[in-house]
Amino acid sequence: MKNLPAILAIETSCDETAVAITKGTKVLSSLVSSQIKAHQQYGGVVPEIASRKHVSAINFLIDKALEEAKMSFKDIDAVAVSGGPGLVGALMVGVTAAKTLAFSLEKPLIAINHVEAHIFSILPERKISFPLICLVASGGHTMLVNVKGFGDYELLGQTLDDAAGEAFDKVAKVLGMSYPGGPQIEKAAKEGNKKKYKLPKPLIYSGDYRFSFSGLKTAVIYKLRDLKAKNVSYKPADMAASFQDAASEVLVLKTLIAAMEFKAETVTIVGGVASNNYLREKLEKATKEYGIKLVLPEKEFSTDNAAMVGFAASHYYKNKRFSNFEFSVNPNWLLPLTQ
Ligand code: KG4
Ligand code: ZN
Repeated sequence: MKNLPAILAIETSCDETAVAITKGTKVLSSLVSSQIKAHQQYGGVVPEIASRKHVSAINFLIDKALEEAKMSFKDIDAVAVSGGPGLVGALMVGVTAAKTLAFSLEKPLIAINHVEAHIFSILPERKISFPLICLVASGGHTMLVNVKGFGDYELLGQTLDDAAGEAFDKVAKVLGMSYPGGPQIEKAAKEGNKKKYKLPKPLIYSGDYRFSFSGLKTAVIYKLRDLKAKNVSYKPADMAASFQDAASEVLVLKTLIAAMEFKAETVTIVGGVASNNYLREKLEKATKEYGIKLVLPEKEFSTDNAAMVGFAASHYYKNKRFSNFEFSVNPNWLLPLTQ
């Protein structure tokens, strides 16, 4: 561990301000300040509020992360930051802080793709073998990636419309649940009957790795409209369970097929939706049945955090791939693909 670089990592791509200090895959401190309460009354993330909250939290979190790691600025070897994709104003806060620190400390700056950081979130304490099929399922992304090595990615397919987390959030909203909807749907679904409503499983047998969640969300909205128009009482828990089951089934089946096609020894799911226990269990059962190893990130590293940015940055540091100071935020930064 002595030779591994101490990385101060910053994440501000959406509605969590996060700072971590990592050494390789060891987490010396990892702080996440969630803005959920500030956005809840609007039913989703308000970009301007997100930027303002990042501005007011970032300096405090940097100091606190150093304090918890029992370090000072002079112990830091590099500064890493999520450079995109994400909300432009939100990203600017983290990138400006990271550039300022790296410049004044005369240490390398490492800008990390946020989706790539999610892929690295599985690293702590684990031995990973390749190829690895990774399902990235968050509020902004749903994609299947063939990870041939860290930094070596092939995009197999992604959503054509809504991301999986976005669908959870929108369905929760129409069911009268608060933002973010994923955890609320999961909680409600425990009390519900997943067979109560027959919902579409879009593109499930499309024979490729594309996803679509907008039709599933609309099916829920139409079903609710129909029930209300006919004055039929319904339990939101039943709708939550039926939706969660339909969405999970598509995610699990496509991940499993990809693992078989690419002869992957290991499968993983990362991003906020990966913290859903129903989905985790479904994937666990399916991979077990087919003798495929399943590696899941710790829940604290599934949703947005800065430790995963540090893990990815460690790989870049080892390969001396640093960013220059002209680097600007890239709200549409695509996963760096090798083919
Ligand atoms: O990775 P993340 O924290 O931020 C993005 O990069 O988007 O993911 C946030 C998304 C939200 O849409 C949230 O509703 C969803 O992940 N999520 C969940 C659960 N926890 C968070 N979705 C389903 N079940 C959960 N338990
Ligand atoms: Zn994320």
